[in-house]
Amino acid sequence: MAQYDVIIIGSGPGGYVCAIRCAQLGLKTAVVEGRETLGGTCLNVGCIPSKAMLHATHQLHEAEHNFAKMGLMGNAPAVDWKQMLSYKQDTIDTNTKGIEFLFKKNKIDWLKGWGSIPAAGQVKVGDEVHEAKHIIVASGSEAANVPGAEVEIDEKIIVTSTGALELDSIPGSMVVVGGGVIGLELGSVYARLGTKVTVVEYLDQITPGQDGEVAKTFQKMLKKQGLKFVTGAAVSKVVAGDGGAVVDYTLRRDDSAKQIEADVVLVATGRKPYVTGLGLDGLGIEMTKRGQIAVDHRYNTSVKGIYAIGDVIEGPMLAHKAEDEGMALAEILAGQAGHVNYDVIPGVIYTHPEVGSVGATEEQLKAEGRAYKVGKFTFMGNARAKAVFAGDGFVKMIADAETDRILGCHVIGPMAGDLIHEVCVAMEFGAAAEDLARTCHAHPTFSEAMREAALACGDGAIHA
Ligand code: NAI
Repeated sequence: MAQYDVIIIGSGPGGYVCAIRCAQLGLKTAVVEGRETLGGTCLNVGCIPSKAMLHATHQLHEAEHNFAKMGLMGNAPAVDWKQMLSYKQDTIDTNTKGIEFLFKKNKIDWLKGWGSIPAAGQVKVGDEVHEAKHIIVASGSEAANVPGAEVEIDEKIIVTSTGALELDSIPGSMVVVGGGVIGLELGSVYARLGTKVTVVEYLDQITPGQDGEVAKTFQKMLKKQGLKFVTGAAVSKVVAGDGGAVVDYTLRRDDSAKQIEADVVLVATGRKPYVTGLGLDGLGIEMTKRGQIAVDHRYNTSVKGIYAIGDVIEGPMLAHKAEDEGMALAEILAGQAGHVNYDVIPGVIYTHPEVGSVGATEEQLKAEGRAYKVGKFTFMGNARAKAVFAGDGFVKMIADAETDRILGCHVIGPMAGDLIHEVCVAMEFGAAAEDLARTCHAHPTFSEAMREAALACGDGAIHA
């Protein structure tokens, strides 16, 4: 029986980052992981493989739509699906092996197998029980079913994001149930490959919680790329048949029943915490009404010595939120003051164009009755964006009406997922829009659009 300071269950971005930080801070650390490779959902079947597929298909899109405009003539490349999947697998492998290397470098033990917690201070993996002062549950999440529909997922015809990244061939048609992040990222991948993609979304707009103006523009842009949208539509049934599936939905505006068929149906209606087999019931660990592990602000569960971070607790199910919690908890366990600023957690959708956002939306501020101002700048006024056919989209900077302090920013356009971070830094420092506006930005870069939006919060943007 080995004795550790910390045992972490789960090696996703929450677990592995927490482990590395624990080890760096001098704690003897082990991670329990039952998959063949480290990295959890994100590296194996989520963020990383989907980014590989988005990258590959974006190159195809560029070849088909923009190469000839730049004098690059010839036929657009043909798609070798097997090779594309193998490129995706290579991307996964280099990343998961990278985590293995970091574990060795930091002397973190990988306890291979699925873990459970027989009692506080003990983690069972296979037949072995390991002891630890601190046990951290970082077991992540799994795809949720369509609410109330209990759809039978076979990961071939009716798939979650996992199956969608492993299809035998490129489907002729696909229905995506849910116009959230997964549906739009993977829907984009297949639309670019020639699949007829229809997104069926319960709400009247896609990407719930997103700034309303961004969401509308985003939907229009995706429509131009060939995705079809049925909004205000509640999917109630999905049934697989011969070589395809039938989706039943009700249009909420008039309660009319509709049906749509497709070769493949992607269920992307959210995710739920994954706590199966951990033995939390037996320990009496308190859960929230939504099935998450209840924790306090220092990630303590209701049982002393057991903590939880990432997708199993409340908050956005984002890899980087889990990572931050992992680092904060490691610091707390090492006697430091770990802390996560939940007001500054960026959200990114890796479509083309990308969507990046942080902080408050106009809708939230209106609901709070807070006085704010908006500085907007379109990428059409950005020389670099125009040069690369990326003039669609805009930056929307939101600042306090009186103090000028930045309250949020919403970007739809080229590299939005990277651009958003200058606002994250600014917000962490409590910056005013004027601080950003007075910061020199290199020309010609997309980042100038961020500065222009900040300028638009004051005396006005230059290129508007
Ligand atoms: P989501 O919560 O983003 O979107 C689910 C959508 O399904 C919602 O728009 C909802 O209104 C809709 N829906 C629910 N029931 C429905 C029904 N019966 N009929 C029609 N529509 C229905 O969930 P998603 O896209 O599955 O993603 C899961 C989690 O993974 C999210 O928390 C997301 O943030 C995270 N994720 C983040 C990524 C990123 O940061 N780029 C990438 C992929 C996932």
